[in-house]
Amino acid sequence: MALYAIGDLHLHFQSELKARAQLRDRVWKNHEEKFQKNCAKLITGDDTLVLVGDHSWGKNLAESEQDLEYICELPGRKILTRGNHDMFWDAKKTKQLNELYQPRLTFLQDSYESWQDYALVGTKGFTFEGPFYLDHRRRIIGWDEDAEVHARKLVERELQRLRKSFELAKADGYRKYIMFLHYPPTNILEERSGFTDMAEEYGAQQVIYAHCHGESRFYDSIQGEYRGREYHLVSGDFLRWKPLKIAD
Ligand SMILES: [Fe+2]
Ligand SMILES: [Fe+2]
Repeated sequence: MALYAIGDLHLHFQSELKARAQLRDRVWKNHEEKFQKNCAKLITGDDTLVLVGDHSWGKNLAESEQDLEYICELPGRKILTRGNHDMFWDAKKTKQLNELYQPRLTFLQDSYESWQDYALVGTKGFTFEGPFYLDHRRRIIGWDEDAEVHARKLVERELQRLRKSFELAKADGYRKYIMFLHYPPTNILEERSGFTDMAEEYGAQQVIYAHCHGESRFYDSIQGEYRGREYHLVSGDFLRWKPLKIAD
């Protein structure tokens, strides 16, 4: 009955691969096969696997069908949350996706799923850097106030979605939470954010996120304990395609 998580499979069985790193870096070579083998070794039919976004490069559902089929074939119960590249998944049409794929996959959006006495809550999230842009040494190299206005709106909408997920679980009597985001919960300066605050407000025990690819991005946000919660990055290339057991 263990709970596993991973993100950023970036499957492309039917779609064109555009990410250069995915074409170039060794870690991505046959990653579908490596991941499938690791799942077969680790995950049983009683276990749950949460996939935290960027599942497919498909531009629409038709182009993502084989990618979703690959996920269906993995062992255990599969719960998916949205990533920034998941064009097949319109947040407003989550109900239809669930109808199409039940009972094989569960698409979590404006809802929660139970696992033991925990509620699994989540949303895509959004990382707000501020009106500034930073280089790899975290020096400010640019400033864009229009982008800031847009980013604040995205953060606000995602926070509302996350609160809805928590509130639905709370109304059903849950008091223990594990929170899933696609984007990291903070900017690369690792300042507190609406997402870390909400994890604290509801007492989420863990915050799981992905999106950060490549050695230079793995430490863009919090890992380990921070203000009483455990934070884990689970992007597939960081985990080398071995899903992380987060509870059992
Ligand atoms: Fe990604
Ligand atoms: Fe992403």
